[in-house]
Amino acid sequence: MKKIALLTSGGDAPGLNACIRAVVRTGYYYGLEVFGVRRGYKGLIENDFFLLKTRDVSGILEKGGTILLTSREERFSDFKYRKIAYKNLKNKGIDGIFIIGGNGSLEGAYLLAEEFNIPVIFIPKTIDNDIYGTDYTIGFDTAVNTVVDAISKIRDTSYSHERIFIVEVMGRKSGFIALASGIAGGADITLIPEYPFPMYLIEESIEKAFLKGKKNFIIVLAEGVSHAKEFRNLLIDRLNRKKVNISDIKYSVLGYIQRGGSPSAFDRILATRFGVFAVKEYLAGQKNIMVALEENKLKTKKLKDVHGKIKTPNIEDFETSKIVNFI
Ligand code: F6P
Repeated sequence: MKKIALLTSGGDAPGLNACIRAVVRTGYYYGLEVFGVRRGYKGLIENDFFLLKTRDVSGILEKGGTILLTSREERFSDFKYRKIAYKNLKNKGIDGIFIIGGNGSLEGAYLLAEEFNIPVIFIPKTIDNDIYGTDYTIGFDTAVNTVVDAISKIRDTSYSHERIFIVEVMGRKSGFIALASGIAGGADITLIPEYPFPMYLIEESIEKAFLKGKKNFIIVLAEGVSHAKEFRNLLIDRLNRKKVNISDIKYSVLGYIQRGGSPSAFDRILATRFGVFAVKEYLAGQKNIMVALEENKLKTKKLKDVHGKIKTPNIEDFETSKIVNFI
């Protein structure tokens, strides 16, 4: 019986469990034995494997987090530890390693695949959606829905108090979460690192909005642009200098609620499709690949072609957010 191992690495994202379930069940469906590795690359280095059976993954489809646990393991960037990880895989008789991870983990997966003789299958997950080569990553859709829900709640209080609100969202250096939730949540201004938005236009927009009697104003701010508190202080300062009569600007940093919660139907389906496809491609002889979704089609990409690259949101989407929301 061929053996595969599966791990989750990096920040958690809704849909990880759905993907674990899909890999395990597809593995057994095709006669493989599946081992879980605890805490991502940390477990590979520390030899923390355990047998996973199909019943072990029942009831987890709708659960956030990861039953395998996860970590950001710095040691994996060191060849010495990758070698230990490889030895542990070989000693356990593992024939292929499945890694569900984000950008940092992709680098580790690429190095492992280049340096050692073991097929590596990578499945992209991150709420940030910033992995090159795939339109969507597991967890992004749920995170965007969480942000949209928060925006509509904040809009109620923004309207009632006639206040400006800054909503800071995650995304690390990328603006995918901000842009999608800015469009879906009808934010007045969406600020993302990839496309600059001049400060004077923000000030003008606020001035015009309040002159027109607008009672709410929401700015979605990607964390990669600035932190909400600093941005708020800068904005108040600049508006005061222009003698714009703004009583106060409030801010909310949404933080880790974006990483948790039950995955959306979209993420459950994506995670399941990725998991099933990943195992099938492995059995078909593919190795050192990432599974991806492009134009709603499942594809495989060579790890060497996707690692270390930057994915940028569509300029058209940024224009869209300006055209419909910015006044
Ligand atoms: O990559 C996912 C993410 O949630 C980013 O959006 C955020 O910047 C980062 O992880 C936070 O990382 P940590 O879990 O190490 O605090």
